[in-house]
Parts: sequence; structure tokens; C-alpha cells
Amino acid sequence: MATRVTAATVLPVLWLLILLRTGICADDYSAFVYAGCSQGRYSADSQYASGVDSVLTSVANSAPYAPYDNFTAPSDSSVVGLYQCRSDLPASVCSGCVRSAISRLSSLCAWAVGGAVQLRACFVRYGNDSFLGKQDTAVLFKKCGGTPGDAGGVSMRDSALGALVAAAAPAGGGYRAGGSGAVQAMSQCVGDLGAKSCSDCVSAAAAQLKAGCGYATAGEVYLGKCYARFWANGNGGFSSSAGRHGFDLVHVVAAGFFASLAYVSLSLAI
Ligand SMILES: *[C@@H]1O[C@H](CO)[C@@H](O)[C@H](O)[C@H]1NC(C)=O
Ligand SMILES: *[C@@H]1O[C@H](CO)[C@@H](O)[C@H](O)[C@H]1NC(C)=O
Repeated sequence: MATRVTAATVLPVLWLLILLRTGICADDYSAFVYAGCSQGRYSADSQYASGVDSVLTSVANSAPYAPYDNFTAPSDSSVVGLYQCRSDLPASVCSGCVRSAISRLSSLCAWAVGGAVQLRACFVRYGNDSFLGKQDTAVLFKKCGGTPGDAGGVSMRDSALGALVAAAAPAGGGYRAGGSGAVQAMSQCVGDLGAKSCSDCVSAAAAQLKAGCGYATAGEVYLGKCYARFWANGNGGFSSSAGRHGFDLVHVVAAGFFASLAYVSLSLAI
């Protein structure tokens, strides 16, 4: 069973990348996936602090109107923030998700120079480490599960994932969907990637899922600038019994964000 990590466990540690086991309830758009915070801290009364406030406020204000945007703080142009919602979802979902993400960031990454949080339906990141517009295929979170499948399922999975890579992202969002037989797949890029970089990122995500998920009937991988998921129809979840088959998941946590800073990763044992 997952161990609960309390603030007291986490606080003495200067880094953080926390993974909490979350179900894959499709409707729980604000469910937590992962977060990462830089090791560096800023002080409360600095220009940097007002820069962070300003970009996160802009992020919150923009989310009801667009699935992606980026902001630079007027007071300190080194502070950049962006958000990306799953661009197939309604604006109301986006804005609610982004509000939750910002509140997670304020508690998990309080005073951290850089921070990122991924919830089910949205991603928010801020910092001064020039991440805007840059490709990032570091693996931050990976999970495979479902009831063990078979070779036929694997081949459907591979073609569903292949369809994502081949798909052109629709205008106005990096969301892609694909399917093959009983297997569905989706991916989402962060909007600062161009179409080619998005395809490259999705391709890297698909390769991770193919290489790391064996016969799993569901899987998801989050890279720095995109994520991809697949699931068998009628088996969209990572069933709670999966762990008993020793099949539940592959936890991979990379120090992908804020690469110049020390990171320690924590994954919660099952
Ligand atoms: C980011 O901001 C922190 C805190 O102000 C500073 O120490 C660091 O040098 C900055 N990094 C960059 C890349 O500007
Ligand atoms: C960041 O936002 C500005 C202003 O909306 C936009 O012109 C620019 O293309 C965006 N940059 C990236 C990399 O998304």
C-alpha cells in the first residue's frame, strides 16, 4: 500500500519531486500526478517574489480563455511562467484545474525559484531557468498497469501510439488522440513546442511506453514537455487489484527539471 508522505517528512529535504499514487479516474481532472521544485529559494520581499506572484496570477487569469499561454514578469523578466491544459477539454475544466495546480504549487514549492506541477488535466510551471520554447524529453513520471494483456494487445497499443506520433496536432492545442482496435491513446504537448518538436516529444513518450510497459493494458508517461497515455477500452483504469499481480507500475523519476540543481526523487512504495 502507498505510504503517506507528510509535510514533516518532506520539509527537511531541499529538493522535491513527489509522486503520489493517484487513481486514473477519468473525471478527476484535478488529480495530482507529480510536482517538482527547484532547490533554490527566493526571499519573500524580493523582486523575484513579486515576479512569481505576477506570472502565476496571469496564468490563473488566462486559463479560462486559452488552453496554453506563457508570461514573463514585468518586474523581473527572468521569471517566466506557463500553463498547458489538455486542449480537448472545456475552458471551465482548464480554469478549475489551473487554479488547483497553482494552489498545489504554493504549498509544495513555496519560495522555490522554480516549480512545476502536473495534474490530470493541466500543467503549470514557472522559474528562471529558460525552459520556455525548449524541448525536454526527460522522463518525470511513468506508470504501467491494468490487467496483464497479450501480444495482440501489445500490437494494438503500438499502433495506437504510432497514430499519435503520426497525427497532426489540431490548431490551438497539442492534444492528439489515436486508437487501434481495443486500445486508445492520447498525448498532450506543452504549447511552447512547435509541431515538429511536439511530434518528437510524443515519439519519445511512445517509445518509453513501448519499452517499459510490457503487456500492461494501460500506461502513461510524462516527459518534460509532453505526455502520452494508452488504455484498453473498458479498462481505462489501473485496477486496484493489479498490484497483487506484481504488475502495478513502473515508477521512474528523473531529475529532469531544473537540471542544474540537485534533485532527489521520491517514489512511494506500493
Ligand atoms: C534564478 O534566480 C535565483 C534567485 O534569485 C538566482 O540565484 C539564480 O541565479 C537565477 N538563475 C538564473 C538562470 O537566472
Ligand atoms: C509566449 O507568449 C507570447 C505572448 O503571448 C507569444 O507571442 C510567444 O509566442 C509565446 N512563446 C512561446 C514559446 O510560446
